Amino acid sequence: MNPPMITEHAIQAAYLAATVLFILSLKWLSAPATARRGVRCGEIGMLLAIVATLLYHGIVDYRWIAIGLVLGSIIGVPLGLVQMTAVPQRTALSHAFGAFSVVLVGTAEYYLRAPNVPGFTMAVLAIEVILGSLTFTGSLMAAGKLQEVLPQRPITYKGQNLVNLSLLAIAVIIAVVLVLHPHRMALFPLMIILPLAFGVMMIVPIGGADMPTVISLLNSYAGLSAAAMGFALDSKLLIVAGALDGSSGFILSVIMSKAMNRSFTNVLFGAFGQVQASAAATGQARNVRSASPEEAAGILAAANSVAIIPGYGMAVAQAQHKVRELFDALVRRGVDVKFGIHPVAGRMPGHMNVLLAEADIPYDRLLDMEEINPDFPQTDVALVIGANDVTNPAARTDTASPIYGMPIMDVDKARTVMVIKRSMSPGFAGIDNPLYSLDRTLMLFGDAKGFVGEIVKELAGHAAAAH
Ligand code: TAP
Repeated sequence: MNPPMITEHAIQAAYLAATVLFILSLKWLSAPATARRGVRCGEIGMLLAIVATLLYHGIVDYRWIAIGLVLGSIIGVPLGLVQMTAVPQRTALSHAFGAFSVVLVGTAEYYLRAPNVPGFTMAVLAIEVILGSLTFTGSLMAAGKLQEVLPQRPITYKGQNLVNLSLLAIAVIIAVVLVLHPHRMALFPLMIILPLAFGVMMIVPIGGADMPTVISLLNSYAGLSAAAMGFALDSKLLIVAGALDGSSGFILSVIMSKAMNRSFTNVLFGAFGQVQASAAATGQARNVRSASPEEAAGILAAANSVAIIPGYGMAVAQAQHKVRELFDALVRRGVDVKFGIHPVAGRMPGHMNVLLAEADIPYDRLLDMEEINPDFPQTDVALVIGANDVTNPAARTDTASPIYGMPIMDVDKARTVMVIKRSMSPGFAGIDNPLYSLDRTLMLFGDAKGFVGEIVKELAGHAAAAH
């Protein structure tokens, strides 16, 4: 075999290995205990794929690639260091960059091959640039809304869906014309500009609250456009990786919609944020009972079983390490402590799992909503830390509530409920929570990290006094 042949075989072998690693990575990412291994596996797969691509004989000059690598690293390293709470918008930016590169490659491929582009190649190039373009602007808009540099509230007007869908429909018609007449090169830029505009318009009527679901959907579009690119470039690795990305993003958005009891169409066209604002305005002052860290520590120390329900506030306060100290203090006292994890607690899938894993809470103490819900009636204390919507009993009973039908953590069925939050402010959905005015509920007003720290101190004091 001559050297180019050997290199070609090595490249194909590396691509095959990378494909297997991507599949394993996704499998392992689906459970907290194996998630770290999944991340490593994905990283190694990606490194293999990049190195193998750099060996490609068609590369004539490495200088531009080197410049791209340096620039990419300068942007990528700080992006990787953002706060945990900013991960959804950071992810959206990554999708935007990925989609942009897909559009650039698709455009280059078309102009390199035009006017003689076979029908199939033209069709996949069209899918690639249409999905890539709308994902690019859609993801930038989603990141802007989450970062609050753009207004979070949905902006709607009459006939909006018709205008938006028309933009997309015209782009698809142009794609069909190009498949039939690939030499009409002047049409190609239009097939990029229209979906770019659609990406912006698609996000305008969606409230900030729904951005994580939308980002996951855009993730799936980015994956599909990469898979289309794989067909255009005849790269099996890209086809598989794109399909994995596309399907996992789609499955994730379905899971998130289900956990919020919303349909896809409701997320995309429901202008959810408007409901939030009006519901928040109807909130009435209610009688609530509050307790001090000392009282809370006393109740926890006397309990046999405690269920901790973390939510977005724990993430904001970065309270996970203090929560770990609380867990240790209670376990030392012989209390049975479990964590109940709602599928959409926080602001991104797995948000609570990641934080609690960071604090080394044993995985077997983390229970999903379906597992822990039947236990609440036998639980002495449900301690809610910075969670709100995912504990709102109105979702079960109030048909007028915007979150009606969303499965919730049944904390109101525990013998005593304690809720750590700073005020009576609503959560993400912007609605009142009747849990706070139940007789069995005690409000622990304060920052999650500070309040849990105080309880830990009090428990240490109790323990010292007992000796
Ligand atoms: P939320 O309902 O957003 O409530 C969080 C609560 O944390 C707030 O009421 C806030 O009250 C409190 N808080 C904020 N900072 C705090 C701090 N430093 N210390 C203590 N408390 C603090 O959170 P959740 O229960 O986790 O529900 C998640 C929401 O996000 C759901 O509505 C869900 O549908 C939505 N959502 C989630 C996802 C994913 S994938 N997770 C995706 C899309 C939408 P105070 O201001 O009074 O402190």
